[in-house]
Amino acid sequence: MSKIEKTFPENFLWGGAVAANQLEGAYNVGGKGLSTADVSPDGILYPFDEAMSKLNLYHDGIDFYHRYKEDIALFAEMGFKCFRTSIAWTRIFPNGDELEPNEEGLKFYDDLFDELLKYNIEPVVTISHYEMPLGLVKNYGGWKNRELIGFYERYAKIVLERFKDKVKYWMTFNEINVVLHAPFTGGGLVFEEGENKKNSMYQAAHHQFVASALAVKACHEINPEAKIGCMIASMLTYPFTCNPDDAFAAMEQDRKTLFFSDVQARGIYPGYMKRYFKENDITIVMEEGDEEILKQHPVDYIGFSYYMSFVASTAPEDLEKADGNLLNGVKNPYLQSSEWGWQIDPKGLRTVLNQLYDRYQKPLFIVENGLGAVDVVEEDGSIQDDYRIDYLHAHLKEAKEAIADGVDLIGYTSWGPIDLVSASTAELKKRYGFIYVDRDNEGNGTFNRVKKKSFDWYKNVIASNGASL
Ligand code: BG6
Repeated sequence: MSKIEKTFPENFLWGGAVAANQLEGAYNVGGKGLSTADVSPDGILYPFDEAMSKLNLYHDGIDFYHRYKEDIALFAEMGFKCFRTSIAWTRIFPNGDELEPNEEGLKFYDDLFDELLKYNIEPVVTISHYEMPLGLVKNYGGWKNRELIGFYERYAKIVLERFKDKVKYWMTFNEINVVLHAPFTGGGLVFEEGENKKNSMYQAAHHQFVASALAVKACHEINPEAKIGCMIASMLTYPFTCNPDDAFAAMEQDRKTLFFSDVQARGIYPGYMKRYFKENDITIVMEEGDEEILKQHPVDYIGFSYYMSFVASTAPEDLEKADGNLLNGVKNPYLQSSEWGWQIDPKGLRTVLNQLYDRYQKPLFIVENGLGAVDVVEEDGSIQDDYRIDYLHAHLKEAKEAIADGVDLIGYTSWGPIDLVSASTAELKKRYGFIYVDRDNEGNGTFNRVKKKSFDWYKNVIASNGASL
């Protein structure tokens, strides 16, 4: 048997990923409006006064808004080739429905991207990452309202045009499938009593699909060199047994996720979803031309997050349960879990990469992966996060295997290269970074940055283009 060469491609995009609302802070500075994150310290929309009276760690984040130069210098020291962040929609359109953008917000991102480019770090930008304007929720009902397509399109065109010489990699919506699992965070949806929730969630998804396709169209018109992708939260599901019913249940659960990339990458609603809609009394209202827009403007690449895998069973009642980011399921007896109950599965990453590439034959980009853990600052000030190194090492080795399988993988951005506020639990105790931030769940701390043990480890990975793995 001849030996297979296992290497990462030249120009592989090594880096880290964040989202504006989870680290920028400065939530009411520079003309910024309130976003859904600003009023939902735990992903739930409270009455306004109650929401604002609670401690909300998103409000200050890790003060990246004021400290990004120091942070980018550290990313450069690690050798980052790219940095994924999002634009806070509310810095550009504070309420979402203005006709003219807020120049101060645009200027902030001009400066931020310039700072990255100074170190040859490629900005990778998510247009909407769990931070839609609250005004669009309160005044329009979030993404179930078709008018949102126009507001998003205006916003997307403004940023695509403004940053066309600085940004080559874009994504339209972060984890677009999350609208099914966290409808407020993903779609700004607040349900009325008796509302057909599933119908509203899929209707919201349809509006996001059309908006996303219009952003793809605009991106290609504005800069034909740029690449624009979708972004899904991958939720690989195994059957609990080899009973064909379990296998089918696993496939159906997978399709709840793949439906989103199917529409965005292939430009059509798949037959299995049309059947699901019929059998579940779901009617998607489409306008003439929608299907054509989807068909004409598929994404250039598939971005996805990968943290864990899931298990499906047709008889889950008696089985041990596992926690997950957004989807609770059956415990996999072969896997260990993180402190937050996420089932750690490096091999699953190779499977997902192969599955997505077999399905779409489009470039793939792992835009989130990482371990949320409690870090301890030792007496000498060091942070020995070997558990994080082990997690990332194991996943990157599987990514390398997938490349050897023939998968076209263009980059890897670990989640939260610097500690930031968690999306699902809104806390700071759950850390992902190579860089520690002195800030705790109660809002105490200096915001000082400290390199963890993993900092040098990742630096070596990048310097050797993955050969050190
Ligand atoms: C993804 C999100 O779901 O997972 C990020 O895109 C999020 O915004 C990340 O932070 C990790 O999840 P959490 O809940 O640990 O922050």
